[in-house]
Amino acid sequence: MAYLSILWLCLIQTLAILAKTKAKIPAVIVFGDSSVDSGNNNFIPTIARSNFEPYGRDFLGGRPTGRFSNGRIPPDFISEGFGLKPTIPAYLDPTYKISDFASGVCFASAGTGYDNATSDVLGVIPLWKEVEYYKEYQKKLKAYIGHEKANKIISEALYLISIGTNDFLENYYTLPERQSQFTVTEYEDFLIGLAGNFVKDLYDLGARKMSLTGVPPMGCLPLERTTNILEEHACMEQYNNVALEFNGKLKSLVAKLNRELQGLQVVFADAYDLLLQIITKPSSFGFEEVRIGCCGTGRFEMGFLGCLKDNPFTCPDANRYVFWDSFHPSEKTNYIISDHLLKTCLAKFL
Ligand SMILES: *[C@@H]1O[C@H](CO)[C@@H](O)[C@H](O)[C@H]1NC(C)=O
Repeated sequence: MAYLSILWLCLIQTLAILAKTKAKIPAVIVFGDSSVDSGNNNFIPTIARSNFEPYGRDFLGGRPTGRFSNGRIPPDFISEGFGLKPTIPAYLDPTYKISDFASGVCFASAGTGYDNATSDVLGVIPLWKEVEYYKEYQKKLKAYIGHEKANKIISEALYLISIGTNDFLENYYTLPERQSQFTVTEYEDFLIGLAGNFVKDLYDLGARKMSLTGVPPMGCLPLERTTNILEEHACMEQYNNVALEFNGKLKSLVAKLNRELQGLQVVFADAYDLLLQIITKPSSFGFEEVRIGCCGTGRFEMGFLGCLKDNPFTCPDANRYVFWDSFHPSEKTNYIISDHLLKTCLAKFL
């Protein structure tokens, strides 16, 4: 689809910073969770994978890549929109070399969060380890094209960060430990502290242009609606309110970081309102189904739990669905439309 990626892209409008400076983006560098993982989890021992059909059904070549989607994911579209390659390779994929990563690389890992305890749940890559991989990448890049060119890429690249939903849904609201230590408001503050440290770490490593994505209306994800039996599968108001509150804090954090860290341009990419609009009025955006995902029965399954090949319940046309599987919001791929709209959208802002 088009719509969710447009949503992302139009978020980048705030990167009108770029329009102002007319800066060319030499690379897109990605950190985060399943919303932006292009396949790193295929190379670590975890069940949080999507390297089987029908994932990737509408991807270039129709193959599963580890993206939690039927097709490409937002960073791929953003990369293409900046005139870079149409897909961003996963750093841990051994079929790629440093030459492939020079114009874009993904360190994200499905199932991870700001909180170390979140990545422990499914044994995925913690955020600090994504940063370790990024440091290794910098070394390899310097060895490959020399310090000067590498430093230019590092400082002019666009860093996309999309993470946080799992901290609430997979960790805080599912496991007892964090709930016994923090009220949800305190947990939000704890995560905000970690987010601030993460941005500072990237800044210290030379990153200057970042987009920090907020969390979506988490209470409207299919799994949350399916389990909201008491309210007839409406969105879980409580989770949406937490998302709004957390996003508000992220926004303040972003303002503070821009003031404090000289030369940093970080934008807060807020997908909440637009996604909620799409969920509330799907037909005006070209969608039909918002309550369940396309993959499997679209209710409980995600990845390993049963979004499997030949599942007779998998929908024939993902473009009508806002969600691909039951937990993860994902873009619906339709190249013709998305390419077209993407370019229109970018032309407006660049
Ligand atoms: C997360 O784990 C890493 C590695 O063990 C550690 O350096 C870091 O301090 C931890 N973060 C928190 C907030 O505990």
